[in-house]
Amino acid sequence: MSYLHNAGVPFDVYKGEQPLTPTQLIESSQVYDALFIAASDKLDRHFFESCRHLKAIALMSVGFDHVDLAAATEQGIPVSNTPDVLNKATSDIAFLLMLSVSRDAFNRHKSIEDGDWKGFGSNRNLGIELYGKTLGVFGLGRIGIEMALKAKSAYQMKIIYHNRKPNLEAEELVDAHYVSFEELLSQSDVISVHANLTDQTKETFNATAFEKMKSSSIFINTARGGIHNEQDLIQALQDQTIWGAGLDVTNPEPMASDSPLLRMPHVCVLPHLGSATVETRNAMATLAAKNLVAALNGEQMPQVINKEVYR
Ligand code: DGY
Repeated sequence: MSYLHNAGVPFDVYKGEQPLTPTQLIESSQVYDALFIAASDKLDRHFFESCRHLKAIALMSVGFDHVDLAAATEQGIPVSNTPDVLNKATSDIAFLLMLSVSRDAFNRHKSIEDGDWKGFGSNRNLGIELYGKTLGVFGLGRIGIEMALKAKSAYQMKIIYHNRKPNLEAEELVDAHYVSFEELLSQSDVISVHANLTDQTKETFNATAFEKMKSSSIFINTARGGIHNEQDLIQALQDQTIWGAGLDVTNPEPMASDSPLLRMPHVCVLPHLGSATVETRNAMATLAAKNLVAALNGEQMPQVINKEVYR
């Protein structure tokens, strides 16, 4: 807000507890030149066709699966996101979930609350170690690279990955090896998802995929819940097709409080908080504000996603 203020941009802040309905969002957007979207409000074709006057939209998120970019481009509206500044915080949560699942930390904590701490037993509370295991990264981009670096330096994990196409720069940075999706499934001890949610990645991790994973493996998703099929994941865990799962994103969100995943062994779930540190959220907000100011000054938004809008 101080960045916008210092740049001389007058603004209003929506302070309601409840998200605006699509109709309210369209109606309230009519009096503004640009929007700063700090939530996951769906911006669909109807929104863009009803808000043709907008000069720009700055998202305070790296993900943009909630925005119909083609519709924004058709209306000539540039949309920006906040890449890079959240790589460390988000990969911290992927790493935290990997370690927590491997030692079943959340459930062991709960067993104390439940008065079920039975004392030392040689076969009690057994987890699995991560040292020297294989981390499979699905989507080796900026956040996946940070996760791979942490896994390598903490546990000397071997890194394999699957992307639409090989990322040679990333391979060099983290000594990662490109494998097919089938190989990623069959060779990984831990699979960590860091891809965008698109029509191509939607529910990639389904019953067929879980079936091909090791029965001792851990599935981690900190990207978007839509990349896994949650019923199939529950089934795979119940059948012990895979060993455990760590989720910071669920399908749907918010997760229902009676989801079986919240009561399963070797499962740790967090409420989509990957980028939620004071430092990272400040950096995201500032980046979004800079993009907005650039657009209002008639310049190209530095982090524009639909670049073609400027052609
Ligand atoms: C992001 O920036 O995309 C985070 O997941 C928050 O939505």
